[in-house]
Amino acid sequence: MDFNKLINRKDTGSIKWDKAERLFGSKDVLPMWVADMDFDNPDPVKDALTNMIRNEVLGYTFPKDSLYQSIVNWQAEHHGMDLKPDHISFSPGVLSSIAVVVQAFTQEGDGVLIHDPVYTPFSSMVKKNNRKVFRSNLKISNNKYVMDFEDIDEQMSQHEVKLFILSNPHNPGGRVWSREELDKLVTLCIKNNVLLISDEIHSDLVYSPNEMVSPVTLKEEYKKWVITLHSATKTFNLAGVKASFIIVLDRKLKAKIKAIQQQTELDIINSFGMCATEAAFSQSADWHGELIQYLDKNRKQIIDFFDKELPDVEYMVPESTYLFWFDASTLNLESSKIRKAFAETGKIGLNDGLSYGSNAPEFMRLNFAVPKVVLSEGLTRIKNVFDAYNIKHTESD
Ligand SMILES: Cc1ncc(COP(=O)(O)O)c(C=O)c1O
Repeated sequence: MDFNKLINRKDTGSIKWDKAERLFGSKDVLPMWVADMDFDNPDPVKDALTNMIRNEVLGYTFPKDSLYQSIVNWQAEHHGMDLKPDHISFSPGVLSSIAVVVQAFTQEGDGVLIHDPVYTPFSSMVKKNNRKVFRSNLKISNNKYVMDFEDIDEQMSQHEVKLFILSNPHNPGGRVWSREELDKLVTLCIKNNVLLISDEIHSDLVYSPNEMVSPVTLKEEYKKWVITLHSATKTFNLAGVKASFIIVLDRKLKAKIKAIQQQTELDIINSFGMCATEAAFSQSADWHGELIQYLDKNRKQIIDFFDKELPDVEYMVPESTYLFWFDASTLNLESSKIRKAFAETGKIGLNDGLSYGSNAPEFMRLNFAVPKVVLSEGLTRIKNVFDAYNIKHTESD
């Protein structure tokens, strides 16, 4: 696979490319925001989809045994899960799954706890379902996010918290939570009668020597407390096909989830999603291996660049994901103006910390799943912004 190939995604309905101008207010912004990749899909996925379109009728379909098996095998090999097809429920997206789980296990007005900062739609999905969002601030230790367990315990017991939504690994900070951290978190969930959603959509994008741990694999009793969400869409760049799955190992939990899914017809995914998911998990492991190597090189390039060219800028080394989280506070700008400064002065579109909560208002998120030349251009643009503002400040001092 040629990850260096430049692909023109303009005018394809790509959110990242075609909505950038409206969001960032400038035509020639380099979009390095939304979390999809500017890479082509694996050949086996494209071949399977082409074959389906050419040779099959697009009538009503159901998930074939081979699709279930591709997930069972992937989860066993990559995440140490011992699944049966019956543990898997399909769902159009991880966010739809979150909505379903929220509806299945909480009532209007109940509390749902999330980290701060964390992937923006966690809070919006909870609010749209009229539940209350509580946030536990992540703390920074050695430039890494760590959980504040005392605070989590306190918030769970003080508010009517019924559910914790965890980004595992963490978007935007790239943390791969350790066995010990996850064990402590589930222990607190059980103590406070709180179910845990482990959103593992980034779990196949982990850099060695970090090790992804699915909390449901830690102890037998955790099966009653943990609902795992996953998908092939982040790993294989298939977000447009809208396909994901919920893993529930406990029969009673599964029955409640299934009931809401059936009431809302959210237990069905389309033929393209089924076909792409199976081809990805069963035939694209080589592509995945090459992807991780490429992303890891990009990750190193960014770190070298920041260390050399922007030594005063703090950042978090991504242990996973293709997202780089850095602190733009040395720009000395009001946090609400930082995104605009990158867009107007640097001509680069980044996600701003303010959209992930209130705990990291001056951080910015860079999506580095791009060809190397594009990454080099993006880094230069970022440096231009720091240079421009530092010069301005020196002049006004
Ligand atoms: C942590 C996390 N969960 C869920 C999603 C979205 O999942 P889906 O497109 O399947 O709804 C994303 C996308 O970036 C994500 O980062």
